[in-house]
Amino acid sequence: MALVCYIYIVPVRCLRKRFLLNSFRTHGPVTTWGEFMGRYINLVGYRTERKISGYLLKMASDQIQGWLNNWESDCTPWHMSDVHEGLANHYDILVNKPAAKNKIFVPLCGKSVDIKWLADRGNEVVGVEAAEMGLVEFFTEQNIEYSVEEVPSVKGKLFRSRDNKIRLYFCDIFDFSADIESGFSGVWDRGSMEALEFDDRKRYFKLMKSLISPDTGYLSEIVERDLGKGPPYCVTADEIEASFGSGCKVTKLMTVTKLPEYAFHISDFIGLNVFSITFH
Ligand SMILES: C[S@@+](CC[C@H](N)C(=O)[O-])C[C@H]1O[C@@H](n2cnc3c(N)ncnc32)[C@H](O)[C@@H]1O
Repeated sequence: MALVCYIYIVPVRCLRKRFLLNSFRTHGPVTTWGEFMGRYINLVGYRTERKISGYLLKMASDQIQGWLNNWESDCTPWHMSDVHEGLANHYDILVNKPAAKNKIFVPLCGKSVDIKWLADRGNEVVGVEAAEMGLVEFFTEQNIEYSVEEVPSVKGKLFRSRDNKIRLYFCDIFDFSADIESGFSGVWDRGSMEALEFDDRKRYFKLMKSLISPDTGYLSEIVERDLGKGPPYCVTADEIEASFGSGCKVTKLMTVTKLPEYAFHISDFIGLNVFSITFH
């Protein structure tokens, strides 16, 4: 687990190899994100709370805390500077559904450039991200004017583009609901399922089911590697179909050719695949 955490969240560039080796020898393997980052934070001698907006952090779960520290360490090896080829190739699946306007949901959105790509095509784009820093960086790097408002119902904030086409919620995905946003024609789910541990994935599928309709087009990119290892976890078609329930069908569309940095640091990496998920 310690090795996997290291490989996924801290590639060689962002380093801490010596820390991990020493920590492992002294205290044994870490078993949670929080434990891992706790050791790291103690070592480097600063408290993350000073730097990351405290609003969500105060109540962040171990699961989220690990991600926040990745952001704080400027260590986001999943981020890609170009639009995702799976999205570009299969974009049609997400739009023009009968009786639905083109509103696309991007769960666990990070600062993905895909958000702007989707908005540039005339869509409304709604994202959810637990790292406020990621959302600030998105709007800054993409040079999009935005405003920020508190949203107590999600215990977080809404980052809204001036034209209101892009609405990104800074909150735990599990505080989001169809009461906040609904009517999605499509979901672009890149790296979300695989980021969550098994029990959280069960909650995640339940939440997603409440946000979509049978007409919603659903595209997902998921890593292929040894089962049970992660994050990122290999989430099988069987697990997705069983979790979404009867009528759900998962179809593999393609294997990605442009790999993000983290893929090169997973020893059992097989590939990244893009799937369409249908609900009829
Ligand atoms: C693997 S990254 C994928 C980011 C994005 N989809 C992309 O393509 O660049 C996972 C993201 O989920 C965020 N995240 C993790 N757990 C979350 C949670 N419970 N609620 C909201 N965001 C979360 C992390 O901060 C991270 O930015």
